[in-house]
Amino acid sequence: MSTLASELDLPEIPLDAVTFEERQAFRRTLAPDTWLVRNLIGYGVVHYEDAVGVLRDKRWHSASGRIPELMGITRQDFLDRQRGGILSAEGDEHVRLRRLVAPAFNPRAADRLRPFMREVMDGLVDPVAPAGRADFVADVCEPYPIPIICELLGAPRSDWQLFSRLASDVLEIFSADLPDKLDLVMAAQDELDEYTRGLIAARRSKPAEDLITDLIAAEEAGDKLSTEELVMMVNAVIVGGTDTTRNQLGCAVSLFAEHPDQWALLAERPELAARAVEESMRFFGAVRGTVRFASCDIEYRDVLFPKGTFISIGLAEANRQASVFPDPDTFDITKPAAEQPQLTFGSGIHYCLGASLARAELQEALPLLARRMPNLRVDGRITWKPDGVGIFGPAHMPITFDAGH
Ligand code: HEM
Repeated sequence: MSTLASELDLPEIPLDAVTFEERQAFRRTLAPDTWLVRNLIGYGVVHYEDAVGVLRDKRWHSASGRIPELMGITRQDFLDRQRGGILSAEGDEHVRLRRLVAPAFNPRAADRLRPFMREVMDGLVDPVAPAGRADFVADVCEPYPIPIICELLGAPRSDWQLFSRLASDVLEIFSADLPDKLDLVMAAQDELDEYTRGLIAARRSKPAEDLITDLIAAEEAGDKLSTEELVMMVNAVIVGGTDTTRNQLGCAVSLFAEHPDQWALLAERPELAARAVEESMRFFGAVRGTVRFASCDIEYRDVLFPKGTFISIGLAEANRQASVFPDPDTFDITKPAAEQPQLTFGSGIHYCLGASLARAELQEALPLLARRMPNLRVDGRITWKPDGVGIFGPAHMPITFDAGH
C-alpha cells in the first residue's frame, strides 16, 4: 500500500540553498536511505538509481515546455509556441520523431566535423595566444558552437553573423528575465523559422552532406518528417546545442584551472580527451538537473505521486554518488570509466540527441586548448551565471597562460 507523497515527512531543501555546493552540503545532512526530498517545485530525487529510475519511466513526462509557465508567464501565444519541440513530445509522437531523426545524429555524422572543430578552435586561440591572456568565456566559449552548428546544418559562412544573432535572441528563453523578453524571443523564433524554411527548400532541390539533407531523407516505414517538423528539429538543435556546449566547455576549463597537473597531462597525452570529457561532465556538468511531471497518478517506491506532481532530478548530485563513482569528489582524468555513465546528458527516452556532437566538440577543444594554453590560470575571479534551474557555467573567466603557443 503506497503513501501519498504529501503525507510523508520529508526533509525540505532550505530556500537559501541555491548553489550546487549549498545543495550538496544539505545532501550530506541526509540519512543515506533518504531518496526523496521536498523542494520549491514539489519533490526531488538525489540518488543515481532514482534519477535513472524516473528518467526511464515513461509515465513521468518532460516539463521543459512548461518551464515558462512555472516562471509565471501566462501569455498563451508564447506558451503554445514553446510546447512544440521534441523535448516536450511524449508517447508515440516522441517515439516516432526519435526513430526518424536519431540516425542523423550518429557518431559518424559528428566525426565528419572534427577537422572543422579544430579549425574553429585554432581560429579562436590565434588572436589571444600572443598575449597569453583572454576572457575565456567571451573569446572562446561563446563563439565556439555557432560555426559548428551552422556547418552541421549546412548554413553558409556568410550567414554566421545573422545566425549567431538569431540564436542568441532565441536563447533568451533560458534567461531569468524571460518575462520581459517574450516579444524578442518570438520575433527571433519567427525569423529563424523563415530562414530554416529557405535552407530546407534549397536542400530539397540540391542535397548536400549536412544534417538538413539527412533529415529530409530520413524515412522509416514510409514515414517522413513534414517541413514543420524539420523546422522544429533545427530549432531544437539551436536551443539544445549552443548554450549547453559553450557552458560545458567553460565549466570544464574552470575545473582544469584548479587542477594544473591534469591540464599538463592532457596536453602531453591528448588520447585522454574522451576520459577528460566524461570526467569533467561528471564532476562539473553544465546541466545540473532536469524536471518531470506525473502524466497520471504514479506509484514509485511505495509513494503515490498524484497526476500533475512536479519532480526534479538531481543529475549533478547523482554524478557524485560514491556507490557508482568511486572517490567521487576527486577530479582525475586517468580514472578508469565507471560501469555506469555520467548523467549530464540525461537518461531514458529524452537522452541528449546531440551527445555525439557535443562529445566530439569537447574532445577536440580540450586537448587543443591544453596544448596552446599551457600553465592556464584564472587571473582574478570567475563570475558565475545564476545557479538554479537551466544551464550553468561561467559568465566571465579572465585567464592567463604561457604566450606564443
Ligand atoms: C555538453 C553539451 C550538452 C549537454 C550537457 C546536453 C544535455 C542534455 C540533456 C540533459 C538532455 C535531456 C533533458 C531532459 O531529459 O530533460 C538533452 C536533450 C537534448 N539535447 Fe542535449 N546537451 C548538450 C549538447 C547538445 C547538442 C550539441 C545538441 C544538438 C546538436 C543537443 C540537442 C538535444 C536535443 C534535441 C535534446 C532533446 C532530445 C529528446 O527530447 O528526445 N544537445 N541534452
